[in-house]
Parts: sequence; structure tokens; C-alpha cells
Amino acid sequence: MVGSAVVRNLEAKGFTNFVTRTHAELDLTNQEAVKDFFEREKPNQVYLAAAKVGGIHANSTYPAEFIYDNLMVQNNVIHQAFVHGVKKLLFLGSSCIYPRLAPQPMSEDALLTGKLESTNEPYAIAKIAGIKMCESYNRQYSASHGVDYRSVMPTNLYGPGDNYHPENSHVIPALIRRFHEAKINQLPEVVIWGTGTPRREFLYVDDMAAASVFVMELDKKTYDQQTEPMQSHINVGFSSDVTIAELAKAVGQAVGYEGAISFDTSKPDGTLRKWMDSGRLNNLGWQPHVSLKDGLNLAYTDFVQSYFASV
Ligand SMILES: NC(=O)c1ccc[n+]([C@@H]2O[C@H](COP(=O)([O-])OP(=O)(O)OC[C@H]3O[C@@H](n4cnc5c(N)ncnc54)[C@H](OP(=O)(O)O)[C@@H]3O)[C@@H](O)[C@H]2O)c1
Repeated sequence: MVGSAVVRNLEAKGFTNFVTRTHAELDLTNQEAVKDFFEREKPNQVYLAAAKVGGIHANSTYPAEFIYDNLMVQNNVIHQAFVHGVKKLLFLGSSCIYPRLAPQPMSEDALLTGKLESTNEPYAIAKIAGIKMCESYNRQYSASHGVDYRSVMPTNLYGPGDNYHPENSHVIPALIRRFHEAKINQLPEVVIWGTGTPRREFLYVDDMAAASVFVMELDKKTYDQQTEPMQSHINVGFSSDVTIAELAKAVGQAVGYEGAISFDTSKPDGTLRKWMDSGRLNNLGWQPHVSLKDGLNLAYTDFVQSYFASV
């Protein structure tokens, strides 16, 4: 999802010379294959958007794959980028790097101040290792090799190219699918787990891509002024959040579902609020542009296209 949006953003800016690979074309956990790729293609800049990604169910079911695949992908790509002379690289992390009980909104300096949320700890540990890998390469090789590897930490993302798998997807694509199926099957009610009161933040994927390109293109002096050598990551959020009940209503409207929405309060709610402090990025001059309403309409159009393409 993000990788395609970064390409869309760069294309719109007039860039043409992209080197992209799908998972089927290049397994980034394979060290030799990644080495061959860099030797052959010799890219100038790298956006590392590939990762094993999923919601709570996927993280709980495949913890070994979440830590192994993500560590291997980022170790291979970051190291081979360095070995092959890439000076600029952007690593995509996640808001789950922050401690479970981090003060809200979560600012960059909350990293490594407490215990992580246990359900996605393996994924979060890999992402933290990715940030520290970029920082360590900067600290050792910036002066000698001009290395400048940066990290951005997105909040929850949604939009074209999302994963609509019935079990392994994130909350917005899962709701889009459920409301769409309820509409098609004329179901009178959609039941949402929990009370609907937890608050979450969502960012449209093209805003995320724009933020990624913005951070990559910041001049080094400005980036260095806003970050520290051992705390170099930058949060990317929408800067406001919604309750799950508000989100469900908005998804229902985007889908055109006219039935009722109810809440199964016997099911757990999870963390009451997860919200990022994006002040560092906003101070640098970046703001999101796509409202949740517009973003959900665009996401639903994409879902309908991919849903009917797959059936
Ligand atoms: N989506 C979100 O809400 C969210 C939130 C915070 C951070 N992020 C981060 O943003 C980045 C992009 O996420 P996304 O939402 O765009 O996820 P995505 O749509 O699942 O894209 C990730 C891509 O990486 C590929 N991939 C996975 N393992 C690979 C491997 N071993 N070798 C080569 N390619 C591999 C996947 O291919 P297959 O699908 O074929 O395996 C997929 O095409 C990730 O770093 C993610 O952690 C995402």
C-alpha cells in the first residue's frame, strides 16, 4: 500500500527512474538475492516500505514470522544499501514502537521508556531495531561515507492497495469489508466488538507517502536540527483521532450501508487511546490533506475494484 503510494507521489513530482520489486520478484529476507539486486540496480535512494504487516490477529498468530521476516528484510536492505553506496534511505516504522502506557499523544522521546504492548511486541522490536540500525549507520558512516538514513513512524494507515483479508487486516479495511458484505446481503445490523469508545488515529496513505517524500527531501541541516543522533525518528499522524463508534458510522456512510450499528460490550476494548504527537513533523512544515470522510470514500472505491477483481 505505502510503496505504491510513494511511487505515485514521486511520479507526480516528475521522477521517472524507479526500481521496484514485488515480494514474488524479490524475497528481501534472502541476503544473496538482496545483494544481487543492489549490485545490478545501483539505486541512489531507497524507500523501505516492504515489511510483514498485519492487525492483532496476524501479529498474535504469526509472532515468529513478524520478528524474523521484518528483521531480515530491514537488515538486508539497510546493510546492502550501505555496501552499495546508497546515501539516502527512508525506513518505515510504526506507532507500535511506543510503550503500551506511553503518555498521549505519544511523542518521539517516549521510545524505549517502558514495556511494549504484548500482542505486537515482536513486530515492534523489529521496527525499533530498524530505527537503531539507521541511526548506528549514520553515527558510524555519516562523516566517512555521507550516509543519511532516516526513519518515519506512521500512525494507522488506510487507502488504495490496503489488505482486505477477512482475518489478517487492520481495522478500516476490515470494517469496509464487513459493511460492504452487510450491504450486499441486506443484513439489518453490523455488530462491532467492544464499547465503541476507544479512540484511534488514521492517516490516508497518500498523505503518508507525501510525508515520507517530504522527510526524505528535507535538507540534512534541518533534519539534524529537529532530531538527535540517537533519537532520529519522526512521527507521521493525522493529529486528531476518532472513537471506534465514529469510525464505524463513517465507514457505514462511505459504503452506503443503511442498517443499524450495535456494539458487543462483552468483547474487550483494548487500549483506550492511541494517538501520535506529530508536532515535530508539523513544525517542519508538513500537514495532512485528506479528511477521514474523503479518504474512506476513496478507500471504498478501491475496495470495490479489488473485491470484484478477486471474485
Ligand atoms: N498499514 C498500516 O496501517 C501501517 C501502519 C504503520 C506502519 N506501517 C508500515 O508501513 C510500511 C508499509 O506498510 P503497508 O501498509 O504498505 O503494508 P503492505 O501493503 O502489506 O506492503 C508491504 C509489502 O511488503 C511486501 N513484503 C513482505 N515481506 C517481504 C519480503 N520478505 N520480501 C519482499 N517483500 C516483502 C509485501 O508483499 P506480500 O504482501 O506479497 O507479502 C507487501 O507488498 C511497513 O513498514 C509497515 O510496517 C503500516
